[in-house]
Amino acid sequence: MLSYIIEGGRRLEGEVTISGSKNASLPIIAASILSGKTTKLYHVPDIHDTRITLEILKHLGCKVKKNNGKIEIDSKHMDRHEIPEHLMREMRSTVVLAGAIIGRFKEAVFSYPGGCDIGARPIDLHLAAFKKLGINIEEEAGYIRCKCDKIVGTKIDFDFPSVGATENAILASVFAEGETIITNAAMEPEIVDLANMLNAMGAKIEGAGTKLVKVTGVEALKEVSYKVMPDRIEAGTFLCMGAITGGTILLKDVVPEHITPILSKLEECGNMIQVKGNTILLTAPKKLKGVDIKTMPYPGFPTDMQSVFGAMLTVAKGPSVIIENIFENRYKYVGELKRMGAKITVEGKTAVIKGVRKLSGATVKSTDLRGGAALVTAGLIARGKTKVEHIEYILRGYENLDQKLRNLGASIEVVEG
Ligand code: EPZ
Repeated sequence: MLSYIIEGGRRLEGEVTISGSKNASLPIIAASILSGKTTKLYHVPDIHDTRITLEILKHLGCKVKKNNGKIEIDSKHMDRHEIPEHLMREMRSTVVLAGAIIGRFKEAVFSYPGGCDIGARPIDLHLAAFKKLGINIEEEAGYIRCKCDKIVGTKIDFDFPSVGATENAILASVFAEGETIITNAAMEPEIVDLANMLNAMGAKIEGAGTKLVKVTGVEALKEVSYKVMPDRIEAGTFLCMGAITGGTILLKDVVPEHITPILSKLEECGNMIQVKGNTILLTAPKKLKGVDIKTMPYPGFPTDMQSVFGAMLTVAKGPSVIIENIFENRYKYVGELKRMGAKITVEGKTAVIKGVRKLSGATVKSTDLRGGAALVTAGLIARGKTKVEHIEYILRGYENLDQKLRNLGASIEVVEG
């Protein structure tokens, strides 16, 4: 087990360059399956989740080459259509590979991804979309077998704007006969990035980023070189870390319009935000003010920022109320923050935070990716030493987090155990 040891109380000052987006990279890596040719990807973060996804592509018969920041995927000789169960269980977002495998081979076998730390994470919307496209689905003993002679364009209406299900519907319908109309589609920027890459390969996708996406089936896709968008959640995380330490940090290589709701909430709690091109300068106040947060599908406040923002608010002046509308179990980090002296009560979807003057360092356990990031955020200002255990969760989604924080003046080290 790996842990961070953080010495709290240092202001973050300086610049940080944001890495490529984890949540855009995963469906974009999956899309490389569709062409049967070579896809060159740039700006893919070197983190656990991208490494696992590339491992699965190799298992399926793709050739994968990595050299300093560039990833080359040749899916010509891909000859397997089954996603290994142990990898499905390890990372539920591998489910988005299924849409790409089916889209190209008209068959795929995968297992239920299983729940995770933040909720049941069902895939009913994914499977319903596949069925609408004419794909036969058989489920037995936890395995899902998908097969069809052809994929026929259709109308898919999502009960909920699921990010993964929208990505899967797009991937599975790129070569469909005719048009596929997706309504109540998720509008996250990661879906726009996926569509931009697929269109650069010769797909015909219109309306990505809106509630109505139209996919017109094509015969084939071509080689592409594509740079993945910056990670909007990493950007938001660093802004909250700068804010909680009373610091001044400049984020470089970000897309400010991807994080408008985060920026406006940061201003509401007293930070000064200056946006210039693809940079954001945050200057924190002496004391943050409590604010209320409601997580919503994009373009609302992102659920992935709920825990880090909540950690920041534990030392704000006045109360804050958070309502988590997306996942049913995304407050597991609260118990760990309370060990550091935070005053938070959770009732169902709602967390009420009573700002305290100071947090105290403690040994705390990461409960999930963003919950772990929340504990690091708190450790940056907690009095004394904080040990954040099980940082494997955090390494899934943040590239070089400790190095980036040290460059901003934090005292943070990785230790074994
Ligand atoms: C993506 O997960 C992201 N992961 C998540 O980020 C993010 O929190 C989430 O979208 C919401 O923005 C990746 O992109 C790899 P959903 P996804 O399908 O696609 C329910 C992180 O920290 N639902 O939009 O799994 C589901 O249970 C991760 O980077 C169904 O009921 O999210 C949840 O309550 C965490 N049936 C809600 O919809 C389905 O078939 C949102 O899920 C699918 C989803």
